[in-house]
Amino acid sequence: MKKWYAVIGDPIHQSMSPFMHDQWLEEQKLDATYIPHHIRPEHLGEAVESLKRLGCSGWNVTVPHKTAIIPLLDEIDETAKKMNAVNTVEVLPDGKLKGYNTDGSGFVYALEEKFGPACSKGNVLVIGAGGAAKGICFGLLNKGYGPITITNRTLETAEELAAQLPQADVLSLKEAEQEIGKFDLIVQTTSVGMNFADAGMPLNPASIQAGTIVADIIYNPLETAFLRVARENGAKTINGVGMFVHQGAIAFEKWTNLPPNTEKMIEKITEKLGGISC
Ligand code: ATR
Repeated sequence: MKKWYAVIGDPIHQSMSPFMHDQWLEEQKLDATYIPHHIRPEHLGEAVESLKRLGCSGWNVTVPHKTAIIPLLDEIDETAKKMNAVNTVEVLPDGKLKGYNTDGSGFVYALEEKFGPACSKGNVLVIGAGGAAKGICFGLLNKGYGPITITNRTLETAEELAAQLPQADVLSLKEAEQEIGKFDLIVQTTSVGMNFADAGMPLNPASIQAGTIVADIIYNPLETAFLRVARENGAKTINGVGMFVHQGAIAFEKWTNLPPNTEKMIEKITEKLGGISC
């Protein structure tokens, strides 16, 4: 019987996961498809029940369901538990549902695919303290990166996140701006800079040093203003396409036991978004 996978979210029309997973399923010659479903928060319970009953083999979960889905699953992997967020559901052989979060490890895989394993063992600055920042902090700490400093517009949120990590410092955006030159790896996780090439920056990156690795998790535009200034300063930059592809690749491998081609997919998505990779 033809297998099927899915992604659920609200909204969902913007998701590039169907494009990516359908290509991987085809490349691996699997008789399967991947379908986006627009599910409103009030229908999440019914949706999960339906996915189960209709034989879905696994699905991705996106905004706003990543936390709300947890009580509807049978098992939650340790990282997803710590993050209190699930982005991937696997249907186990006995029909039970297991939730994972592949965002943080997806980020680290993307970073290491581009810059090599253990590419930065120095000071890390994470800009932002939302769900994405949390996943990335856990992903980095799991792989031995750090020490981590968190900076955020709302200082209390940064302090709350820091308190959940084994060890992390907190700086205001102003302080981070002044000290930005001392960091070896800088990760921009806020939504500032999204959708428009001149959409602003969370802090002034003018003092970023040459050789620093600077990541922005945004992929539309492919190069945010923040990343452009960092590149012009001589930093080694990476946009959010790699993280997106690798979080999906980990899910794909869990579902199929087959490793998808991530490098080719990064090229394809970059091309689709109309640009040159950075
Ligand atoms: P996600 O799950 O994608 O990380 P989120 O949890 O809403 O989304 O977090 C968004 C992050 O972007 C937060 O760190 C937020 O800062 P606040 O905690 O102060 O809200 C940050 N952010 C959003 N808009 C911002 C802006 N205009 N300037 C600076 N930071 C902003």
